[in-house]
Parts: sequence; structure tokens; C-alpha cells
Amino acid sequence: MQKRIVVLISGRGSNMQAVVEAGLPVVAVISNRADAAGLAYARSRGIPTAVVAHERYSGREAFDAALAEEIDRHAPDLIVLAGFMRILTDAFVERYAGRMMNIHPALLPAFRGLNTHARALAAGVKIHGCTVHWVTPALDEGPIIIQAAVPVCPGDTEESLAARVLRQEHIIYPRAIRWWLEGRLRLENGVVRVEGGEPQLVYSDD
Ligand code: GRF
Repeated sequence: MQKRIVVLISGRGSNMQAVVEAGLPVVAVISNRADAAGLAYARSRGIPTAVVAHERYSGREAFDAALAEEIDRHAPDLIVLAGFMRILTDAFVERYAGRMMNIHPALLPAFRGLNTHARALAAGVKIHGCTVHWVTPALDEGPIIIQAAVPVCPGDTEESLAARVLRQEHIIYPRAIRWWLEGRLRLENGVVRVEGGEPQLVYSDD
């Protein structure tokens, strides 16, 4: 049976676009914001979309319950968070334990949370990047599936660094999802291994 992927977005949706363009089986795109630019792309590809507007709910529990209901309508095997800017309740995360991935624009465990590129520049790190990981209740802490590292170059701005990292996000997210689709992801003592031994690290100065 063909696996089913639901992607959650809040904005631009370029990672969702990369996943769709990689030919992965995205059956629905759901946003918490009606004005998310990525929704138009999904529609243009004939992918069903839905909006669960967070401001219409009294709190996180109510929002997460509505979101779960919408997700479950599509009977997904995997939930892909792609720039989804809401903190999820533990109950929601537990419901999808082992089948929800996120991409974070930093080399975890460094720079969890927001404004990662500005913080990397302020810290003076010489290497930065992005991480695809399984989602667990602690924010940005789940088992790491793949990371891409990029150099921080002299004269970088938040924008130039973000763009360098984003190019790699678009490469590693589809790769991680394809590994899952092929049934090659294993969790051993909290560490993800890929059957077949493909590198779980990409380095690029592109
Ligand atoms: C990406 O940098 C992603 O890592 C972060 O939010 C951004 C979303 O970009 N979580 P897009 O919506 O996928 O273009």
C-alpha cells in the first residue's frame, strides 16, 4: 500500500515544495494560517489543503484536537512539519509518536528555538546548518535523522546565511523522508541509524 504523508506549514512552504517535487506521496497540506503562501503551491499541484486557524481556538489543547482531527481525515503514515510555527502539546506529540518529523534550521542541539541564524552569527560559530529529527515532546530534541552543515562566511548576514542553510534543507528533508519510505530508519538507544549506511551528514559550501 502506498504510504501517505501530511505536511504541516505556516508560511512560505519551500520545504513542503521540495518534498512534493521529490515525488514523495504528499496527500494533504495543512496550515494554521489561511495566508500561508505555500497553500497556493499545494493547490496548484492538485494537493488537498486545509486551514486550522489557531486563533479560532481557546487554547493549545483545543487547537491541537482540531488539528489532529483534520490530520486524521487523511489517514497519514507520516506527519511532516515544514516551517510549522506552533508549539504542540505533549498529547499531540504522543499521538503521532514515531511518525512525525521536523526540520530545524540549526545544527541541533545548538540553537534550539527561534532566530537561529541571527544567534549563530552573534555566537560567532564557523559552522551552521540544519537538522531533520523525529519529534518528541521536548522542543527540538528528538532523535536526529540527518544534518547538513554549511560554513559561516565572513560578511554573512542573517539573510545570506539563511539562504545557504535553506538550500541544504531542501536536499536533506526529502532524503530523510525517502529513507523512512524505504523502511530504512532504525532507532537504537535513542540514535537513528539508516540501514545501508548512507551518510547522515552532508557538508556543502554551496
Ligand atoms: C525553514 O528554515 C525551516 O527550517 C524552519 O522554518 C523555515 C520554513 O521555511 N522550521 P519554508 O516555509 O519551508 O520555506
